[in-house]
Amino acid sequence: MCGIVGYVGAKAPIPILVEGLKRLEYRGYDSSGVATMNGEGKVFVHKRAGRIRDLEHSMPGECPKANVGLAHTRWATHGEPNDANSHPHLSHDEKIAVVHNGIVENHSSLRTMLMGEGVAFRSDTDTEVIPHLIARFYEGDLETAVKRALHLIQGTYGIVAMHSEEPDKLVVARNGSPIVLGVGDSEMFVASDAPALVAHTKQVVYLEDGEIAVLSPEGFRTTDLSDRTIQKDVNELDWEIEEIERGDFEHFMLKEIHEQPLSIDRGLRGRAMSDFGDAKLGGLNLDRRAFFDIKRVCLIACGTSLHAAMAASYLIEELARIPCAVEIASELRYRNPIVDANTLYFAVSQSGETADTLAAMREVRRKGGIVLGVVNVVGSTIARESDGGMYIRSGPEIAVASTKAFTSQLLALTLFALKIGRMRDLSSTAGKQLIHALNELPDQITTVLDQSDSVKEIAHSILDASYVLFLGRGGNYATALEGALKLKEVSYIQCEGFAAAEMKHGPIALIGDGTPVIFLCPRDHLRDKTLSNMEEVKARKGRIIAVCNPGDERVMALADAYIEVPETHNLLTPFLTVIPLQLIAYHAALALGLDVDKPRNLAKSVTVE
Ligand code: F6R
Repeated sequence: MCGIVGYVGAKAPIPILVEGLKRLEYRGYDSSGVATMNGEGKVFVHKRAGRIRDLEHSMPGECPKANVGLAHTRWATHGEPNDANSHPHLSHDEKIAVVHNGIVENHSSLRTMLMGEGVAFRSDTDTEVIPHLIARFYEGDLETAVKRALHLIQGTYGIVAMHSEEPDKLVVARNGSPIVLGVGDSEMFVASDAPALVAHTKQVVYLEDGEIAVLSPEGFRTTDLSDRTIQKDVNELDWEIEEIERGDFEHFMLKEIHEQPLSIDRGLRGRAMSDFGDAKLGGLNLDRRAFFDIKRVCLIACGTSLHAAMAASYLIEELARIPCAVEIASELRYRNPIVDANTLYFAVSQSGETADTLAAMREVRRKGGIVLGVVNVVGSTIARESDGGMYIRSGPEIAVASTKAFTSQLLALTLFALKIGRMRDLSSTAGKQLIHALNELPDQITTVLDQSDSVKEIAHSILDASYVLFLGRGGNYATALEGALKLKEVSYIQCEGFAAAEMKHGPIALIGDGTPVIFLCPRDHLRDKTLSNMEEVKARKGRIIAVCNPGDERVMALADAYIEVPETHNLLTPFLTVIPLQLIAYHAALALGLDVDKPRNLAKSVTVE
């Protein structure tokens, strides 16, 4: 989704802003723009549809020198992606520039009102009402004018505004769209996401909904819309600059796939207790009594996080013997959910900012439910608003297509399942066996990654397919869904995932001569059932690609191609079977000449409904 960067201080703002925008490219966007002062007391704006490089290349040779600037990458919602609709937007007197993330829901009535007052609009966006409204209220103080304008706005926003008559000031506001301030040495930064700040400062302040901040080179001040002062804590970011750079990898997606041995290792460290076959999870904020009272677990998520949750639900039921439901956040939030005191809810989200997951979490909490977060981004809204939880510790995920977060989310929930299982019927022997197997995962993932070349060949063999089917059972049903999601989002090849046995209830109609069917078939208690499904595909001349364990001759005899993944604990197979599927998606997209890290129409962090 859209990205925001702002700067106030003694350095030239444009290079800082453009570099910040580049750090946010991963969020997905279709146009970009910057604004600063033009040196003659006016606002200078430059914006372009397309990539940030288009913005850079079209920039006038000599950019104005000023102490303040703001910038934006736009992911179109209202109005097509063209130059006029790009942000920043200006007030009609061209003295105020605004960038905005979110949606102004009452924009059409505000537009009608402003047009009735003689304001001429230059774009089709909902955002443009904001600078015009601020101008309407401006009487020499930007902060007051922004507050008065925001009283009229319904919807979600993260905004940054500047005024040509207050050249050392940015006014920032948040309601439903993340905003983080960066505190520098005689300079201040603002961004929608921390990666835009890491190169400059690690001292950050997370704005909450309803808060306004005024930034100047001397620092910042925060109030609410009614002018009450709010004291904010300054937090330390725990990301290193190398973590948000590609290093030697051609793409972030490939880098992040390859980081999984490390991220799994990090997720286990200090949490997996080998001696007791148990897990230590500090942040859950549940006392022993609360653990015993849990009668049901409910995992709420979207997209890849939903698939990780689905895979984890099998582990939770098996290890803890507690029923576990998995809910699509966007469905749950509007269903008037039945919330009970003995259900423990988890909001599972890499970014911690997904609008639907956040709204579902808030709805459950409003009804009295306890919601824990399973989140990657430290300090994100879900992490802050949940009743406790687990950070998945996968490190920053930059590629739009989520990869390492899947395995890290699954790991965090596996450790939760182990912990609660050990408080109930799971023996220490069974717990130790699981931890032993978990500890082996980093090396085993490396073994799978080492087969990248043969996986590449398989990926190239499906490039012309008009349809690809992914099938698995148990936890690998979730992996099949994830494999299909990954392939379609980066390669645009039509595909879907199904529970293997469901094939004959519909998708079998699509299988003909050479149709690629990717089976996840580890040597577990469901393997023989999956083998029957393979026979059914074979009988229809489908092309079987199997992910199986080494030496599984029955699978190999049926398969046209196969990828071996090491054997592991029956419940942990999705950690390994998902890796080749991530690689297939990556290599297919690359071979098709697509922009792997920034697939079309997609955004990293979906902060609108
Ligand atoms: C897929 C993908 C999305 C996200 C989904 C949820 O590769 O990245 O499906 O998984 O938008 O995002 P988070 O986990 O940030 O809540």
